[in-house]
Amino acid sequence: MRLFLLKFCQISKISITLFLGFFIANAGFAQLQKTSPVSYDSRAVLVNGQRQLIISGEMHYARSPREMWPTLLDRSKEMGINTVATYIFWDFHEQIKDVYNFSGQRDLGHYLQLCKEKNLNVILRVGPYCCAEWNYGGYPAYLRDEPGITIRTLNKPYMNRVEKYFEHLSAEIKPYLAVNGGPVILVQVENEYANVAIRYGEDGQRYLKWIVELAERVGLNVQKITCEGGAKGAIECVNGHSIPTERSITHKAKNPDQPLIWTELWPAWYNTWGFQDHKRDPRNIAFHMLNFIGSGGTGINYYMWHGGTNFGRTSMYLQTTSYDFDAPLDEYGRPTLKGLYLAQLHKVLEKNNKAILYADRTEKIGATGIKTIQWVKDGKALLTLHLNESDKSATEIGVSLNGRSAIVKDAESKILFDTQVDFANYKTMVKIADWQPLISNFSWKLWQEPFPDSRFDAAINSKQPIEQLTLTKDQSDYCWYSTTVNVTAKGDQNLEITYGGDFFYVYLDGKLQTQSKAPFLENRGVTMPEDPAHPYIFANALEASKLEGFKHKFILKNVSKGNHKLEILAASLGLVKGDWSISSSMNNERKGIWQPVKWNEKVLNNWQMNPFLSGEKLNIVNEPTVIKWTKPAKPKPLTWYSSTFQLSQSQLATDADYRIDMMGSGKGMLFVNGYNLGRYWLIDGNGYGPDEFWQKIELDGLYLEPAGQPTQRYYHLPKTWLKENNVITIFEEQAFAPSQVNVEIRTVK
Ligand code: GAL
Repeated sequence: MRLFLLKFCQISKISITLFLGFFIANAGFAQLQKTSPVSYDSRAVLVNGQRQLIISGEMHYARSPREMWPTLLDRSKEMGINTVATYIFWDFHEQIKDVYNFSGQRDLGHYLQLCKEKNLNVILRVGPYCCAEWNYGGYPAYLRDEPGITIRTLNKPYMNRVEKYFEHLSAEIKPYLAVNGGPVILVQVENEYANVAIRYGEDGQRYLKWIVELAERVGLNVQKITCEGGAKGAIECVNGHSIPTERSITHKAKNPDQPLIWTELWPAWYNTWGFQDHKRDPRNIAFHMLNFIGSGGTGINYYMWHGGTNFGRTSMYLQTTSYDFDAPLDEYGRPTLKGLYLAQLHKVLEKNNKAILYADRTEKIGATGIKTIQWVKDGKALLTLHLNESDKSATEIGVSLNGRSAIVKDAESKILFDTQVDFANYKTMVKIADWQPLISNFSWKLWQEPFPDSRFDAAINSKQPIEQLTLTKDQSDYCWYSTTVNVTAKGDQNLEITYGGDFFYVYLDGKLQTQSKAPFLENRGVTMPEDPAHPYIFANALEASKLEGFKHKFILKNVSKGNHKLEILAASLGLVKGDWSISSSMNNERKGIWQPVKWNEKVLNNWQMNPFLSGEKLNIVNEPTVIKWTKPAKPKPLTWYSSTFQLSQSQLATDADYRIDMMGSGKGMLFVNGYNLGRYWLIDGNGYGPDEFWQKIELDGLYLEPAGQPTQRYYHLPKTWLKENNVITIFEEQAFAPSQVNVEIRTVK
C-alpha cells in the first residue's frame, strides 16, 4: 500500500508537474508574447538581458534590386556590421491609395527573413515620415490631396491614413519582431521631428506621442526609438556628421536612463543636381566613432552603409539618381576602401565589446591635450583610447582631417587600431578593377515626342493653369501648359511664372526659346502667397528668408508682332523630402504652374494642359511597336531613342557590375529592358558647391570632388536586369543625341 501510495504520489507528482508545467508554459507563452526580449538600461540596449554594442549599417531594400539583398547582407556581416537599419517608405507599399504591395521588390518580409537567416539584428525605421532624399520623404503623393489634411501633425485625415497603413505594415513586420523570434530589435517612429516641431507646436507633440502609441497598438511590440526629438516611451537618439562630446553630455543629462545611440552617422553626404560630389575621409569617421564610444555611446548606425540607387522616379526634388553617399559599400554593393578600413575598427570594437559595455569608463586629459579614456575592471584597464584633436601628422596626411586622430590599445598596451597608421595599406585590399568600356556601337532609332497640338489625347482647358500634381497624381514628371500670346510690339518679351516648379522649357511656335538655369536650390521657400487668415509659420530663419524661390523669369528674345503659341513644358525633379524645402507643411508641395503667368506684366488666361508625355501614355518603353520609329537625324529636343544591345552568356555569368556612361547627353529618363533606371542629367557641378547645408557646418573630414565634372555621369545598370538581348530606351529633353552613350563593366580582381 505504502508502495502504491508512493508510486501514486510520484506519478501524480509527475502529472501535476507536467500539468503545472504545461499551464505555466502556456501562461508563460501568453506572457512571452507581450514581453519583448529587448530592453535597455542607461548603458546599452539589452537583448535577452545582454548589453549590445550596436554596429549598424543602413541599407534601404527599396534602393537595390531584390537579387542584391543577400550579397549586401553577407558582405556587411563580413565587415563587422551586426545590425541592419532600413527605412520603410510608405509610398513604396501604398503608391495608390488603398492598394498595398509587399511583394517582389517590395517584399519587406523577405528582407527581414534574410536578416534573420544571416543573424543580423534589425532597426526598422517605420516612419511614417522618413526624409531620406526619397520622393516626398516617403509619403505617398496621394496624401497631399486628401481633403482637410495637414501632414505630420495631429490632424484626423492624416492620422486616419497613417493608422490604416500601420495596420497593414504591422501584419508584415510582426513575424519578424524579436518577441516572435525575429531579428527586429528596435523600431524607429517618425524622424527628426525637432526640425519641424516649432511649426506644429503642442499638436505636434501630441502627434508624436500618438505615433508611439499607435505603433504599439497595431502590434509593433518592440522597443521604440526616435531620433532628434524625443517622445514618451521611446529612446531618443542623435544624428549627425559627428557627435561632439559636449553634445553627448547634454543628451545624456536629458535622458539619464537611456543609452546613447547615434542613429545616423553620415559617412559623407548625398548629391543634388548642379552641385559637386561630396566625399568624407574614412579616418575622420573612425575618429568620430571612437570619440562617441569614448563618450559612452553604445550604438552607431551608418547612414548610409550602402546607399544604392534612386531608380525610377523615387528621388526627392533635386536628388541625383545615384545615392552612393560615398558610403562604405558603394552604389553597386562593393566594399570600398572606406568600408574595408572601417571593418577593421568594427572587429576591434566587437572583440572588446564586453569592456565597452560592462567595465567602468574613466576619462582624463593629458598635458598635451590628448584625451585618454579607459574601460577599467578590478583596477585594470581592459581597453584604452587616446583621442587627439590636434595631431600635426593627421593634418598633413589628410585633406581635411583637422588634426584628429585616435589610437585604441588593449590591456597589454598593444595598439589595436590607429586611425592614421597603415591607412595606405588598406588600398591594396580593394578588390574591384577599373571600369572598362563594353558597348558603344548602338544603332539608335528615334521618335519625336509630339507637341501639344499634335497629340492624340485632348487637352484640359482652364482659364488659369492647373497645378501639375492634380493632373498627374505624380505618375509622371511632365506636363505641358499652352496658351496664345499677342505681341503688340516686336522685340524682347518678359515672361514670369509667379509660382512654378521645377524645370521649365519655354517654346514659342514650336521652337525652344529658353529654359531654366542652374543653380537649383533645395530650399526654395513658400509655394503659396500668404493668406492673411493663415499667416506663415516658419520653423527657422532660413525658411523665412526665402519668399520668391518659386518665381521664374524668362526673357524671350526678338519676338515678332502678332499672335504666338506659347508652350511651356514643366518637368518635375521629384517631390520635396521635408517641410523646410517649401517653408511650410509638406501638403503645400506643388509642381508645374499654379499661380498666374505674366507676359510683360499682364496675366495670361485660357490655358490648355497636357499632363504626361505622349510616349508615356502610349507606354512605348514596354510596347515600342505602337509607334513608328525613324532613323537618327540632327538632334532635336524631346526625343525618344531606342536601341538593342547584346551580352554573351559568359559575360552574364561573371561577377561584374554594369553602368551606363551618359556623357554627351542632356537631361531625361533612362530605361533598360523596361526598368526605369532613373532621371539622368549631365548638369555640371561646376561652381555650385558646397551646398547650403555644408556652408553652415565645419567641413570636418568632408570634401568635394574637383569642379568641372557633371554631378552624375554614370548610371547603375543592375546585372540582374540584364539578359542576352537587351533594349535601351532614352527620353532626352534637350537637343543632344546619345552618340557617346556607353555601357561599362567592372569585374572583381
Ligand atoms: C537626416 C535624415 C535622413 C537623411 C539624412 C541626409 O537628417 O534623417 O533621412 O535625409 O539627413 O542624408
